Amino acid sequence: MAYNVAVVGATGNVGREMLTILEELNFPVEQMHALASRKSRGIEVAWGDRTIKCQDIETFDFSSVDIVLMSAGGDVSRAWSEKIGKAGPIVIDNSSAFRQDPDVPLIVPEVNPDAIRDATKKNIVANPNCSTAQLVVALKPLHDAARIKRTVVSTYQSVSGAGKEGMDELWNQTKAIYGLGDATPKVFPKQIAFNAIPMIGSFRDDGYTDEEAKMWDETHRILDPAIRLTVTCVRVPVFVGHCEAVTVEFDRPIGPDEARTILREAPGVLVIDKQEHDGYITPVDAAGEHAVYVSRIRKDHSVDNGLTFWVVSDNLRKGAALNAVQIAQLLDETGTIKPRSGYRTLTV
Ligand SMILES: NC(=O)c1ccc[n+]([C@@H]2O[C@H](COP(=O)([O-])OP(=O)(O)OC[C@H]3O[C@@H](n4cnc5c(N)ncnc54)[C@H](OP(=O)(O)O)[C@@H]3O)[C@@H](O)[C@H]2O)c1
Repeated sequence: MAYNVAVVGATGNVGREMLTILEELNFPVEQMHALASRKSRGIEVAWGDRTIKCQDIETFDFSSVDIVLMSAGGDVSRAWSEKIGKAGPIVIDNSSAFRQDPDVPLIVPEVNPDAIRDATKKNIVANPNCSTAQLVVALKPLHDAARIKRTVVSTYQSVSGAGKEGMDELWNQTKAIYGLGDATPKVFPKQIAFNAIPMIGSFRDDGYTDEEAKMWDETHRILDPAIRLTVTCVRVPVFVGHCEAVTVEFDRPIGPDEARTILREAPGVLVIDKQEHDGYITPVDAAGEHAVYVSRIRKDHSVDNGLTFWVVSDNLRKGAALNAVQIAQLLDETGTIKPRSGYRTLTV
């Protein structure tokens, strides 16, 4: 019992991680297809101890595939995901294109696995924004214990969140600033090397950015529309791993010890929280790992029932590829999809 799987965006940061994680988690794959744009046709990408050649999405026959992990940006998703879904496969879409579509479930398996029941409405399941995914994994067990009224989040997001071009810009700019190269920003709006940019995405009329709005819209959809959030997203010169300083106000007192106990039991969370230098997590520690790490849990003295803590995870893994593969596992475990059993019937 194994699936024919296609990864679209297989030469990208997230696509490469998808190939690695499908293998790491032993997802049952019969045939693997790596797809990207025409310019990458024939390029070899690693899949376990093998390499596979990339194919051009434009000429690929999706009708022989069961699951498509789509990770090539919003424009490619808008052009292809619905078309592929109608041809039979279930698409797990990493872009923001379908995250607010009522006929497309937006899923973090540790938080709202039951939403998988809507997967066949359009044969598309949406993966959340990288910063939302790690946030809701940490908030969910606390929210189950004491209702969250309000959350204040400041993110410290790595450059890999802006794709391979974002990583190249940090690398080249860092060298250029102390050498003789060109340090002109191209991917980011300002210099990212040795800097911090309090602006990700594009500005909205209310002064927030669309990246910030994604975090509250998606948290509302995945966890609870009653939670009030304010968010500031900041790009920092880190290659992999997003951090979040999170302050939460509950409807009853919940102390740091109780929160640590709850979070230690929670799926997907690892608590590393001691007042010593090995007692908290940084992006370098989290890169390449699966967990959402929570550190520095303490009382927020400025409100009655407040806690403040630090959340770190690998944005290419839990923030993207790992979550997508977990959704594929959920499709399999719930019987929503069956390998090579002919086309599923759309329910709308
Ligand atoms: N990075 C993160 O932390 C993160 C987190 C959550 C979601 N996402 C989402 O995941 C997606 C990919 O991100 P990434 O970081 O992997 O970007 P990336 O490193 O820039 O890679 C982009 C991939 O898309 C492919 N692609 C671009 N245009 C294409 C086209 N017209 N047809 C087919 N393939 C095309 C590229 O192929 P070529 O090499 O052939 O151009 C490449 O494989 C985006 O939607 C992003 O928003 C990223």
